[in-house]
Amino acid sequence: MPALAPAKINLSLEIVGKRSDGFHELVSVMQEVTLFDELVFAEADDLILEAHGECGPESENLVLRAARLLRQTVEIGKGAAIGLRKQIPTGAGLGGGSSDGAAALMALNRLWDAGCHCETLSRMAAFLGSDVPFFLTGGTALVTGRGEHVVPVPFPRTAWYVLTNPGLHVSTARVFTALPPTEWSSGSHTRKFAEEIRDGDPSHLGVNGLAPTLFALYPEAEACFQAADRAAPGQTWVSGSGPTVVSRCAGPHNAERVAAQLHRLGYTTFVVRNYPTEDRDLPCRA
Ligand code: C5P
Repeated sequence: MPALAPAKINLSLEIVGKRSDGFHELVSVMQEVTLFDELVFAEADDLILEAHGECGPESENLVLRAARLLRQTVEIGKGAAIGLRKQIPTGAGLGGGSSDGAAALMALNRLWDAGCHCETLSRMAAFLGSDVPFFLTGGTALVTGRGEHVVPVPFPRTAWYVLTNPGLHVSTARVFTALPPTEWSSGSHTRKFAEEIRDGDPSHLGVNGLAPTLFALYPEAEACFQAADRAAPGQTWVSGSGPTVVSRCAGPHNAERVAAQLHRLGYTTFVVRNYPTEDRDLPCRA
């Protein structure tokens, strides 16, 4: 059983404050894009993962953690042989590991005939990580709380982006830990932005409340942002805790031109568009 795990970008991200559990309350518009990790699932006696590409330590792997959590939750004794081909850079602000975890929950729920619906899957997803619940809804969504409240935002058109990555691993925890309360905001800009998306194509960009802290900790991330902003003036922002930056482009040809320019400077680039939800079996997309 094959599955695609798409990357996400944050079209807008505001940090509202800090919660008593140490996590931050956020308001974000997230969108899936057409850069994928590829997974394949087959029934097996044990739980085994064969990964190709850069994945990080196996103990932290969200595919295995998702599989174990589902098995424990539904008290199923089955195993699975899972193949994972990584294409989404890790520590990049693109939610690759979270998307892999969500893809594993959804695929194994089917493979094992576990019968979990949105609510149970969402609870498991939120336990695995703040960005995981979004991928059960997919498409474009307004995400609040720690990341567990996800409301779909209709996006019935194609948007083109260039993703530019400076090949730097960013620790999300490090950025959040260093974030001063002066960077918190009410979330109203992002909520308004979500409304504008519903009504059409907003002329302006979203915001990212983590960007100044990211740039202070990782100067290479700011250099990458500036290079992309020169290639696509006024159309570039940081995704999540970075360091990947997103440049909004008028169409595929414009995107290829911007990507080629940044590639020549030594950056890894991806030309992507938003990944629509039609014809996909997403458990939390009503
Ligand atoms: O949930 P996840 O493991 O992806 O979060 C990684 C780190 O990012 C957390 O340990 C926390 O420091 C920070 N974080 C946060 N508030 C969020 C999401 C993440 O403080 N809503």
